[in-house]
Order: sequence, then C-alpha cells, then structure tokens
Amino acid sequence: MCNFLHGLFLISQYKECVLILIVMFQTTKELKLEIYTLDALQNFSWQENHKSNSDVYFIENMQCWSDELKQVIDKELLQKLINFSNSNETSILIKNCPVGNLPDTPVTSGCIENEHVMLPAKFLFALFGLMKIMPISYIGENSGRVIRHVVPKISHNNQIGSHGNLEFNFHVDNPDLSLIGENSRRPPCLEFLALYCLRGNTKAVTELVDLENVIQFMSDYEIKIALSNQFNIKRPDSFEDGNPIVKDVPLFTKFAGKYFSRFDFHNIEPTNKESKTILSKINKILTNHVKPVKIVFETGDFLIFKNQETMHKRSLFDTNYNGNERWLMRLFGMSDTPKNYLHNQLILRS
Ligand SMILES: [Fe+2]
Repeated sequence: MCNFLHGLFLISQYKECVLILIVMFQTTKELKLEIYTLDALQNFSWQENHKSNSDVYFIENMQCWSDELKQVIDKELLQKLINFSNSNETSILIKNCPVGNLPDTPVTSGCIENEHVMLPAKFLFALFGLMKIMPISYIGENSGRVIRHVVPKISHNNQIGSHGNLEFNFHVDNPDLSLIGENSRRPPCLEFLALYCLRGNTKAVTELVDLENVIQFMSDYEIKIALSNQFNIKRPDSFEDGNPIVKDVPLFTKFAGKYFSRFDFHNIEPTNKESKTILSKINKILTNHVKPVKIVFETGDFLIFKNQETMHKRSLFDTNYNGNERWLMRLFGMSDTPKNYLHNQLILRS
C-alpha cells in the first residue's frame, strides 16, 4: 500500500549564480527524484546588514526577509513552502542554503550569539516567514532563546541528547507537552521542527519516519490502547527544571482525521502490561518494518518536519571538539492558526 508522499526539496547554489532545486518524492518503499532550476538568485541579497542578538529583531523582520526571498525563489518551490503546513507532506529538505563565514563550532558553551550567524539565521527565519510558521521558544528550555545550537558539547561527551554524541533513538521533541487534539492544560507541543546545518559530520545519520507508516503495522486494538491514558512521560533533558514525570497520558491523539504522537524511546514509560506491549510493538515496527529516510546533514541543508506526525533519531558519531564539529541550528514552530487554545501563552516572541 502506498502511503504518504514526502516532499524532500533540495536546493543547490552554484557560487553566487544558479540555484538548482531537486525534489525527491518518497513513499514507504522508494525514493523518486525531480530536479528544478532556480536562475534568479544571482541578484539576491539582503537589503540591510544590521547585526543583532535579539530574538525579537528576528521575529519582527522575518516577514520583510521572506518578502525579499519570495521575489527570487522558484515559484514551484515557493508554492510547496506556502502549502507545507496544511499539506499531507511531513518533511522538506532544502540543500545549499547560505551559511556565510562561520566561527568555530561552540563546543564549550553550546551556544553563540545570533550576530555570529546572521546570514543563516536570517535565511532560517525568512523560510519560516514564507511557510507562515511562527517561531517559538519555551520558558525553561534553551534559556528561552529561539535558536538552539545543536552541537556536541564537551561537558556532554558520551551522553544522549541534542548536545551529546551517543545514539539518540526515535522520538518526538518535547513529548510531555500537549499534543494536537489532546484535552490538556499543559502548553502545546511544537508542531514544526527545523534543523539548519552549518557543519556536517558524515558519521552522524539522522533518520525520519512518518507516524502513518508506523501505524499501518498496528491493529485497531493496539491503536485504541495507544490513544488511551496509559503512558507516563519524562520531561526531556533540554528543559532546565529536572525531569518531572507527566502521568497517565495518551501515546497518540487523533484530530481532524489525523494521528499525532509523543513517542519517545528514551522518555516514555508504560503504566501496565497493555501499554508495555504497545511500546514494544512500536519498537519492533521501527526496527524491522519501516524504512526511514536517512539524512547525513551537509553544510547549508535546511530540514523541516512535522514533529508530532513523525519520529526522528540520530546515530552515534565521533567528536574531537576541535572547532570543526557538527553544528545545526534548531528552530521550533507553530502554525499561524493555533490548533491548541493555550497556543498564545506559549509564544515568547510573537
Ligand atoms: Fe529531537
């Protein structure tokens, strides 16, 4: 059975002239590749070169930057980006986005001020503007900053997590927060997760799988258990208030005909035999049945995916902490049209 079509879009920039867009359509079993050419980007430049460390500056200017980008981007890609949040596609990859001159990867602090990464940060926000996706941050996570720098941090050597280098198994980000369609007063879980690669590591393989591709291997009874309040979730390590447990919550929700998930290999616990069986079944499906998309990030890759409609993981990778380490900028987002009544309480920068 042919399930979801993923749109994976790759843009390649040759020096300052030509952009080539490659679109890959992927079903459960196979990958198709289409190539588009953008030839108007040679005249593209930001109209001002102001530097800022303020997240508010980026939020306030993202629409203006996306308007500039809109003038030069391939019309077909533009339409795909505009339609993404309301489409059935769950991920988009754009290659060879600009990164500019980079400082060393911040492996000691794990963070850096925006002014040192102005060009990619502006491009990242401009893409969100085109997609009508609102960047968000959470109080108590990443010091409330919008961009998180996903780098191997010396102090997190041989640990799991966005600052670690050990295998980070399949999960949804911030799974303790309220899913789309969940009847809960907890703040809403992010809908979109974007990663913008400043430096790659050929050993670090990111995998992405559609929730629908997992669910197709589950029985109606198993789905019913997953939809029931029989799971406990630990808050992820990136939050700064320890790891409180959220008890008796569903693993899946269903809203407007779509399933959403908070699956997290590392942080979810069963509350009884039935829910234990479901978790073990999902782990078996992920290991034996689905064919995840595998991505080895390269400099200039921009990946965005629907957090609650997919699961992602990243392999173990080696680190030398020499300033040339893997470096991704992470940005969370929500739809312009909130699907959760607490949405506005969550947004720090709007
Ligand atoms: Fe993640």
